[in-house]
Amino acid sequence: MAIAILCGKDKLDHEAHAWLATSLKSELLTLDSNLDIQIWPEITDQNQIECALVWRYRLGELNKFPHLKGIFSLGAGVDYLFTDPQLPKNIPITRIVDPTMARDITQYVVTAILNYICRNDHWRICQQQKKWGKQPPFNFADKTVGIMGLGFLGSRLADALTHLQINTIGWSKTPKQIENVKCYASENEFKTFLNNTDILVCLLPHTQETENIINNELIAELRDQAYIINVARGALLVEEDLIAALNRGKLSGASLDVFRLEPLDTKHIFWSHAKIRVTPHIAAVTNPVTIAHQVLENYRRLLQGKPLLNQVDVQRGY
Ligand code: NAP
Ligand code: GLV
Repeated sequence: MAIAILCGKDKLDHEAHAWLATSLKSELLTLDSNLDIQIWPEITDQNQIECALVWRYRLGELNKFPHLKGIFSLGAGVDYLFTDPQLPKNIPITRIVDPTMARDITQYVVTAILNYICRNDHWRICQQQKKWGKQPPFNFADKTVGIMGLGFLGSRLADALTHLQINTIGWSKTPKQIENVKCYASENEFKTFLNNTDILVCLLPHTQETENIINNELIAELRDQAYIINVARGALLVEEDLIAALNRGKLSGASLDVFRLEPLDTKHIFWSHAKIRVTPHIAAVTNPVTIAHQVLENYRRLLQGKPLLNQVDVQRGY
């Protein structure tokens, strides 16, 4: 009986994620030194593997474990699993639900919002040009942040923004209640949500329903000069529609942490567009120290045939 850790879709990607696999192995062994943990591609006996801890692994690999009982995603998102044509069927999938991750994503988004509202890009350019460049004072009360996705991460972000006294609204599939946040739900209320949004934050999972959701149609419904922050997945954004809206002035800027193709190609226009800020998918990186307990707890539950924590609804896709 053993655990396999599979990180990275190829050799290069695996090397880039080696820190995650090795630190998680070491954290788990600190909690239980009897565990047998093997890191892909050095799996000694595929027959022994009962549990796979995965992050953007090489597709097809999970199918090689004939006695696999559980697949634990090492990220909050699980979209990459559903791109595996050989994903073993009828095996429970879990994901990471970690308050540290919620804290990190909140801090990232708050930074992006403050940079935008306080016009920090403008002041930086003024300083470089030794120009005073004074403008009327910024006013937080003029802007409303609209969060798409009020799940574990989105709801915590919403809560934090209200504590900073930033007007916040949200939208999700099913109705939610969050103190001081006007929550909209379903297709019916989507347009009203967008019509009231100045700063759109995307924290939806990538599913068939959400793919390409940030497109011309959505952008047209946002308030003029709106700003977009995408920390969900690159596939939710239609890149040409974003660029066109930035160039014609409908949107004033965008902060992007996630991309259709990662790493972002060096020739991609996002790198050099004056109104776009790019970060390399770092808004909330899985922390091996803070997730080790929930991974071990789920492994024990798996062996005992108990219900797992944070199980993914495969039909829904998140
Ligand atoms: P979650 O708890 O599953 O929440 C997802 C939210 O999206 C829920 O509120 C859900 O509505 C809503 N939703 C899903 N499909 C929808 C639809 N078709 N229409 C309207 N609302 C919809 O997920 P989470 O833990 O908050 O994570 C969200 C995503 O963040 C992950 O899937 C991942 O892609 C991304 N992420 C990015 C980073 C990063 O570093 N950039 C880090 C972690 C996570 P209901 O509540 O009604 O079901
Ligand atoms: C990161 O993107 C995650 O899904 O955890």
